[in-house]
Amino acid sequence: MTLLSICTTETIKSAASALRSGNLVAFPTETVYGLGADASNQTAIAKLYATKGRPADHPLIVHIASLDGMGQWARDIPDYAITLARDFWPGPMTLVLRRSKLAQDFITGGQDTVGLRVPAHPIALALINEFYNQGGLGIAAPSANRFGAVSPTTAQAVEEELSQYLLSDDLILDGGPCLVGVESTIIDCTGPAPMILRLGAITPLMVEESTGLVALESNPAAIRVSGSLDSHYSPKAKVILDVVAETGDGLIAPDQIPTPNGVVRLAAPSTIEEYARDLYRALRSADQKGLEVVVVLQPGGDGLAAAIRDRLRRSATR
Ligand code: TXA
Ligand code: MG
Repeated sequence: MTLLSICTTETIKSAASALRSGNLVAFPTETVYGLGADASNQTAIAKLYATKGRPADHPLIVHIASLDGMGQWARDIPDYAITLARDFWPGPMTLVLRRSKLAQDFITGGQDTVGLRVPAHPIALALINEFYNQGGLGIAAPSANRFGAVSPTTAQAVEEELSQYLLSDDLILDGGPCLVGVESTIIDCTGPAPMILRLGAITPLMVEESTGLVALESNPAAIRVSGSLDSHYSPKAKVILDVVAETGDGLIAPDQIPTPNGVVRLAAPSTIEEYARDLYRALRSADQKGLEVVVVLQPGGDGLAAAIRDRLRRSATR
C-alpha cells in the first residue's frame, strides 16, 4: 500500500488506473474517507469486502461524477429524486434507487436497489472523472474502516485502520481532513415520497423544502443499511453518553463545558459543524491514548445534531 500525499494530475491518473486494474484506492470525500473499487469488477469488490471484513450482503454506494450517471445505474427514477440530485449533488447525500442491470448483486447485496452519490470533494471528483476517461462507470466506496469501526476522516486514520489489510498495489490518497465528518444522508427514493434511511448533513427539513414532500421515517428492518445495525461506529473504548466524566475518562463535549480534573479532553467543539467534523477523530484518539471510557455529552437540536446523536447512540451500543 502507498499513501500519496500530493494529488497531482499524474497521481489521479495512476489511482484511476490502479482501480481499473482491480486494486483498491482509499480517497477523501467531504463526509468521510471511502475505500474505492471498480463497481463493475466483481473480483475487486470481493477484495473490498475482505479488506473491510464486511458481510457480503451489505450493499455498497456507487460514486458517480454527476447526475448524468444516474440513468446508467438506476431506472424508474422518480421526479423528486432528480430534484434532490439537482439541489444537493455534489454533496453529502446518497440516493437509493431501483437498480439497472449494471448494478449487479455483488454491489447491491442482492437487493433490487442501488445507492448512488456524487461526492463534493475535488480529489474524489477528479478521480471519478479520470476513472470514466479510462473506461470505468462508477466507483463503489464504503467508508474506509473495518466493519463496525469508526469511519476515518483523515488519510492517517485510513492507514492506521487498514494498512495491515491493504495489498502492495493499493493506494491511499491524502486530501486532508474531511469537512463534514459524518457519513452522507441516505434517502430511499423507491416509494412515492423520500424516506430517510440514515441521517446526515442533508437534513429532513432540507429534503422537504427541496421536494415539497414530507420525508418519511425509515424502517430499518425492511432494508439492509449496515450503519443502521445497532452496534456500529465503535472505538475500542467504551462510549458512555451524557454522564459526568470521572478521573481517567476521555471527554467529548461542547466547548462551554469545562473539563473536570483528571479527565482527558478529546474534543471541545464550538459549533455543531465542528462537532461533526471532529467527532470521529476524537473517538479514535481515545483508542490511541489507551483510554477505557469516553464520556460524550451529546449536542441538542435537529439537523446535523440529530445525525451526530444517531451515530453516538450506535457507538455506545455493544
Ligand atoms: O458518506 C458516505 O456515504 C461514505 C462516503 C465514502 O461516500 N460512504 C459510506 O459507505 O458511508 P458505507 O458503505 O460505509 O455506508 C453506506 C450505507 C451502508 O450502511 C449500506 O448498507 C447502505 O449505505 N446502502 C448502500 N446501498 C444501499 C441500498 N441499495 N439500499 C439500502 N442501503 C444501502
Ligand atoms: Mg461505513
